[in-house]
Amino acid sequence: MLGCGIVGSAVARILDAHSDEIAERVGARLEIRKVAVRKLGKERDVPLSRDVFTNDASEVVGDSDIQVLIEVMGGIEPTRTLILDAMRSGKHVVSANKELIGALGRELFDEAEANSVEFNFEASVAGGVPIIRPLKESLAGERVERVMGILNGTTNYILTKMAEDGMEFDQALAQAERLGYSELDPTADIEGFDPAAKLSILASIAFNARVVAGDVYREGITQVKQADIGNARSLGYVVKLLAIAECVDGEIAMRVHPAMIPRTHPLASVRDNLNAIFVEGNQVGELMFYGRGAGGPPTAISVIGDVVDVARHIVGGGRGVGSLYSQPARVRPMDSTVSQHYILLEVADKPGVLARVAQTFADHDVSIMSMLQEGMGDEARLILVTHNALERNFQALLAELRTLEVVDEIASSMRVQSAGD
Ligand SMILES: NC(=O)c1ccc[n+]([C@@H]2O[C@H](COP(=O)([O-])OP(=O)(O)OC[C@H]3O[C@@H](n4cnc5c(N)ncnc54)[C@H](OP(=O)(O)O)[C@@H]3O)[C@@H](O)[C@H]2O)c1
Repeated sequence: MLGCGIVGSAVARILDAHSDEIAERVGARLEIRKVAVRKLGKERDVPLSRDVFTNDASEVVGDSDIQVLIEVMGGIEPTRTLILDAMRSGKHVVSANKELIGALGRELFDEAEANSVEFNFEASVAGGVPIIRPLKESLAGERVERVMGILNGTTNYILTKMAEDGMEFDQALAQAERLGYSELDPTADIEGFDPAAKLSILASIAFNARVVAGDVYREGITQVKQADIGNARSLGYVVKLLAIAECVDGEIAMRVHPAMIPRTHPLASVRDNLNAIFVEGNQVGELMFYGRGAGGPPTAISVIGDVVDVARHIVGGGRGVGSLYSQPARVRPMDSTVSQHYILLEVADKPGVLARVAQTFADHDVSIMSMLQEGMGDEARLILVTHNALERNFQALLAELRTLEVVDEIASSMRVQSAGD
């Protein structure tokens, strides 16, 4: 095992506590032979003798008795090199590392194939929620149309606090930090890098496509205001940071951004720091996978499930489903995608304003689904929701609205993800 932190120590404890059941399921006993860590002297609450620990990770990778490498150390390097070396020496690899797989998955999938070893990474997306194996195996006969998820617990917690306790973004982030839900540097969460990496992993499996985190359009939640949450509520929506991947005319469209979803959508009920993935297939219909997206024990259960899968193949013969991501993907650019939008406009309260605004929408081929006027005089505001519109048309519309003399300000705008779009 590389790493013995939050996830690694839970793996060691659960492998020990459940060892009899696991041995029965595998047909052999699993033993943690060596563990690489940074600080050898650190106290660790794990049922392992001190002599399994090393601070030289190459000792783990170079040990020819070890058949499976569990990578729970994180980061890009030296992790990437260690995994590649392990595969070249015939070791199967289990990893929880979304950052690495999201950025460099292709290289790892190819190396696993070239060396006929298995590479499993269930824990890399949504921690304890099984989603990789269901997509790879249970849904192997399906054509998945769309995968839509709440893939980051920290941001879901922040948005829940904003919606339910009326907090502003900064207050809710501070509370998430106090409770230990967010990383020391929250950028990867609040700017959407973490869910973008996970989405690229899901999309590569769901659509058999070689896509990476950099192909995902990304917006975080730092611009979401209490006013947006309140307006969403009065329009019957809930604001979530959604990660959406879909296959449109043979192209893969992937995006992470805050969105309003109908209060009745199953993802709207995913609160606090929980995760969920909503899958739509043309035969199976709608499925939802829901649970703990982080935390030592839930994540360790996904890691151990992957190890058991490999161990069963070692004991009983056969191979797991290999890399399916053989097809070079055509990624649909964001400006060619379609979405509904909500816009809040501060406008002048005088005759002709509505007509001028409506004409500008029409000029850009963006049709209005609903429009509500609130307030009078200096307080006059228009709350609009559009039908599906092409992203590039919508951006051109925003640019022109900013120049209109009847519009004081575009106070906010957010995508709307309707059910069955
Ligand atoms: N935590 C979660 O809830 C969660 C959920 C899903 C996926 N993951 C993924 O799981 C992985 C591990 O996360 P974690 O939260 O368990 O991290 P963590 O608590 O920071 O543990 C990292 C471990 O790796 C060791 N390590 C780091 N660099 C090393 C190096 N160069 N050589 C040897 N050992 C090294 C550390 O050693 P020391 O103990 O000596 O510092 C520590 O034991 C990451 O890829 C993360 O993204 C985590």
